[in-house]
Amino acid sequence: MMNASSSNSNSNSRYSSNSNSNFRFIIPILGFALLCTLFLFSNLDFSSYSTPPVSDNRASSPVITTTKNVSPPSPVATSNPPPVILTAVDSVGSRPKETFSDLITTFDRWDQEVGCDRFQEKFKGWTVNASAVQEIDRYECSELKMSHASVYVKLASWVPDILDGLYQCRCGLSCLWTRNEALADKADVWLWVTFHLQNRTEGGPLHAFFQIEAPRWRSGHEDIFISYHASSEVQATYAGKFFRIHRSYNVPNNKRDDVLVYWSSSNCKPHRDEIAKKFLSLVSHHSMGKCLNNVGDSDMALTFYPDCQMEENPIPHWWDHLHCAMSHYKFVLAIENTFTESYVTEKLYYALDVGAVPIYFGAPNVWDLVPPNSIIDASKFKSIEELADYVKAVGKDPVAYAEFHAWRRCGVMGNYGKVRLASLDTLPCRLCEEASVRGGRKAPLTTLS
Ligand SMILES: *[C@@H]1O[C@H](CO)[C@@H](O)[C@H](O)[C@H]1NC(C)=O
Ligand SMILES: *[C@@H]1O[C@H](CO)[C@@H](O)[C@H](O)[C@H]1NC(C)=O
Repeated sequence: MMNASSSNSNSNSRYSSNSNSNFRFIIPILGFALLCTLFLFSNLDFSSYSTPPVSDNRASSPVITTTKNVSPPSPVATSNPPPVILTAVDSVGSRPKETFSDLITTFDRWDQEVGCDRFQEKFKGWTVNASAVQEIDRYECSELKMSHASVYVKLASWVPDILDGLYQCRCGLSCLWTRNEALADKADVWLWVTFHLQNRTEGGPLHAFFQIEAPRWRSGHEDIFISYHASSEVQATYAGKFFRIHRSYNVPNNKRDDVLVYWSSSNCKPHRDEIAKKFLSLVSHHSMGKCLNNVGDSDMALTFYPDCQMEENPIPHWWDHLHCAMSHYKFVLAIENTFTESYVTEKLYYALDVGAVPIYFGAPNVWDLVPPNSIIDASKFKSIEELADYVKAVGKDPVAYAEFHAWRRCGVMGNYGKVRLASLDTLPCRLCEEASVRGGRKAPLTTLS
């Protein structure tokens, strides 16, 4: 769900400045139109790509206007702006174009020309919205009312069964997380991941509802709401490990130079396909999924990359080797199904995990949830054409390309460390902690709205 502050934030996005002028213009006229604007914004209409509006304040606009001397994503302004340290990404396009595919020599060159010291110094002043991610230790130990809590995962559906087990958490708290009703016969929490209508009863388990998708909607019958957004009672980001167990993580040292961009989508949504079609028509790419497939089959990955085959899994599903397949490319196109605050999903994190550079269309506050200089943020470009030119320029600039991997090699994290700590992987302990703070089954019956 969009809130006003994010629409009003001084985000560098071309779209948000459009939306801001829309807001100013429309609000006085008709409240209904505001709703429409919010709706449009949350589904981000990319028509502004084809006809970029003329900007009167270009000078102050951080929007990239040429592929040369582009600015990296600016950190949120602070009263004491950090010294300007120019690095390779600031001069994309100014070096001679080069073909490259070997990462190790590419990284060596970046180490010589830029290096971690300068990179770390450059991002010292990088400030992120700390409130976009919940703190892992947001409760004092003294606030915990129980030293043990248990969660019964009802109707488990997609919840990975690897989460089942007993956890030792902070503050001496132990936590049982199970799908077995008998093991959790006196559960403190019932966890639903599907919409439910059952009210909590006095002295019964707390009701937790985990809504992983956007938009976030509460069931109205939960005591504890869990979603990707920090304003939920418990946040669960997508930057975890457990969505993707038993997968091929064979990641090569080389990137393809002949085909720049990987895309895979099999849930063909019109707005996503429209963006992808426009962008992919401008760059060499492989589209592996059902949508806009250009490799002949909805899964050619194993034919292209036999190294992605897992011996123990001779008849694999496409997702088994998704990570391995995308790791062969310099860039991975990641387009969210909904463009809304903090909704940054596995589409982006998978690409980061396997050492590809995501080209991202999605949450307007994405920089609060990823490491500095880790992605190419499409919202920073005034047209799809400029985005494509930029991607092609980086694809022929080994030193700049290496810099998109520097966060990982130099340990420059932004909020990303916190984002990982607040993922599904750690949900059992964090939910048990929430239950303990409330007193578990002894928690007073709240009035459900
Ligand atoms: C910071 O993040 C929180 C949670 O996502 C959001 O509600 C708030 O508006 C953000 N603040 C700014 C200044 O963007
Ligand atoms: C749940 O509680 C609400 C009021 O708190 C009530 O209106 C509703 O009928 C209850 N639902 C069920 C299924 O008992």
